[in-house]
Amino acid sequence: MAKRTTRYVCQSCGQSSQKWSGKCDGCGQWNTLVEEFVQPEVKGKGARRTASSTDPVPIGAIDADRDARIRTGLKEVDRVLGGGIVPGSMILLGGDPGIGKSTLMMQICHRLGGSSDAEGTILYISGEESLRQIKLRAERLNALSERFLVLAETNIDAILHAIETTHPALVVVDSIQTMYRPELESAPGSISQVRECAALLLQYAKSSNIPMFLIGHVTKDGIIAGPRVLEHMVDTVLQFEGDHHHAYRIVRGLKNRFGSTNEIGIFEMRENGLREVDNPSEVFLSERSRGISGSCVFASIEGTRALLVEVQALVSPSNFGMPQRAVSGIDGKRLSLLLAVLEKRYGLRTGQFDVFANIAGGVRIDEPAVDLSVAAAIVSSARDAAIHHSTVVIGEIGLGGEIRSVSHLEKRITEAEKLGFERVVVPKGNLKEKRKGQIAVVEVETIANAMERLVK
Ligand code: TYD
Ligand code: MG
Repeated sequence: MAKRTTRYVCQSCGQSSQKWSGKCDGCGQWNTLVEEFVQPEVKGKGARRTASSTDPVPIGAIDADRDARIRTGLKEVDRVLGGGIVPGSMILLGGDPGIGKSTLMMQICHRLGGSSDAEGTILYISGEESLRQIKLRAERLNALSERFLVLAETNIDAILHAIETTHPALVVVDSIQTMYRPELESAPGSISQVRECAALLLQYAKSSNIPMFLIGHVTKDGIIAGPRVLEHMVDTVLQFEGDHHHAYRIVRGLKNRFGSTNEIGIFEMRENGLREVDNPSEVFLSERSRGISGSCVFASIEGTRALLVEVQALVSPSNFGMPQRAVSGIDGKRLSLLLAVLEKRYGLRTGQFDVFANIAGGVRIDEPAVDLSVAAAIVSSARDAAIHHSTVVIGEIGLGGEIRSVSHLEKRITEAEKLGFERVVVPKGNLKEKRKGQIAVVEVETIANAMERLVK
């Protein structure tokens, strides 16, 4: 067999060279050269034919067993995955260092190792911790199931060999950034190493039908494992997020070839590992104090579930020249927009005030349906008048100060009712049918209209 070599290829124009350099000779761009493998060329007769080893098949004849998913035993994870792990699939779990990725994966390994859902062993490969460290953690998590094998290794060849010999039901690689292929000169964690190792694992996963989890550290700007190189290769991308200062952690699906991507799973980090949160609304509202101005409850939709959260705002006179605007859990630009609309359409001047807005508990809300509750919390704080504690506020605000319809209103109201709220303020005309329940539904058309009902 011909000797394999590597070369450096510009990711922008495709020009290759033998040596790395900071600037591409072809297109003049900087830092675009990445080390890649050169597969030896097959010359002569039959070269082309060997390129494809399988024949096309009629789509109806493909055998795809739909119920073959492996349940992890953690409801919250299964839901995000779309019902469980699909055999042969590759799942990337990204998140900040220290958020709990290894903990989550070990708990899944332990569950699968002790249940009949997965036949065979579960292989957990760690390139970050020694066997002793892994053992200590497993003891803490009480995750010492018999079929749970661990391997501390970073050489991808050794790892593939171990997978081949143990033929496990699931492989976890913690983390893909620590793995390396010796033939490549680049350091572990570089784009070429990460991509090459993931490609080898992916190939193996597809051909052997063994599902794999890859753990990836997220860089500062939220990009998984070196410029998104892995996102398009894998079947599913999960993001593990949360605030280090809070115990709550959220697993979010960013991409899923086998399910929807807007589901979330909620966990609480405890002394002995992650615990699933069954009643997130109750949890996120648990620390709310009643009768305080600047607080408003919102019913959001996360995937198929409604989730009640507390929106907080604080408006206070600014002591410095530039008034501050700071947010956590909502979009900062959206806050500026809401302040502008409040000024123009409702006459609330905040030019001389600092404004802070926050979603309690470290959750992030991206949907515009939260607008009205943010605005209500701001007005409540500015006027120092509390919004009644058993009121939920839902609605998007338009630039004209009008309250616009939101999706899944019925589901949001039902969740509010379930938690004992007495009144819900919603966009006018949004409810298609009249509700029969206990909760009073107040329809509002404009900001002024809404504030009249909310802030006395
Ligand atoms: P870890 O899973 O090591 O994070 P990652 O793999 O994403 O880097 O989690 C580390 C944090 O979790 C650490 O700060 C301690 C905390 N933790 C607990 O609070 N309880 C536990 O049972 C465990 C194992 C960790
Ligand atoms: Mg870890």
